[in-house]
Amino acid sequence: MYKGRTKGKFIVLEGIDGSGISTQVQKLKGFLETTYGVKAILAKEPSEGPIGTLIRQFLNGRMVGIDDKSLALLFAADRIDHNIEKIMPVLEKGDYIICDRYLWSSYVYQGIKNDMAWLQEINKYVYEPDLTIFIKVRPEITLQRITGSRYKTEIFEEHKVLQHVFDNYLKILDEWKRSRKNVVEINGEQNLESVEKDIRLAIKKYHADMS
Ligand code: TYD
Repeated sequence: MYKGRTKGKFIVLEGIDGSGISTQVQKLKGFLETTYGVKAILAKEPSEGPIGTLIRQFLNGRMVGIDDKSLALLFAADRIDHNIEKIMPVLEKGDYIICDRYLWSSYVYQGIKNDMAWLQEINKYVYEPDLTIFIKVRPEITLQRITGSRYKTEIFEEHKVLQHVFDNYLKILDEWKRSRKNVVEINGEQNLESVEKDIRLAIKKYHADMS
């Protein structure tokens, strides 16, 4: 992975489906802009680019019949395209980019059916985030939230799969902590305000550590 090359900051939020990432990226944007006077741009993977758009069609079932390896390659290709088209230009300007899912999502979702060494290989040219925030919510909690508020079941939204994804998240979290990368674990089972508050504290600590 490439790292440490620009003035801007690259922050990623990760968690299983229904863990509240999309809500928290919005709140984080507001917090960064008002507290630090920076410009913060929101991003998401799969991206809104051509490869990300194709991936979404497979995820929502409008297109069918892709094998696990091809899907993993599409996610990696989308990430490289996203790095070049959106993430790097923002960082080079010195702005912040907050991304809803990134590399860990490939490790934990595609990691169910593919080996980790190969996933690392196909993702080796992507930029390393400055900070990865993991919103920890157990599958039994997110499934209650998902079935309560959405009517479309996406292919990944089943308990057994989510449990596997969750376990994979804990593994990667542990590995990155041990290799001293910047990661933070947030208790996502609290109410929204408390989750938001904990993310703010983590960001303050990150900035204090950096200065
Ligand atoms: P999600 O982020 O929930 O987007 P939306 O709310 O618009 O449906 O869905 C994206 C899904 O894609 C999610 O189940 C995780 C999965 N995913 C992967 O399997 N691998 C990846 O590399 C990424 C970025 C996402």
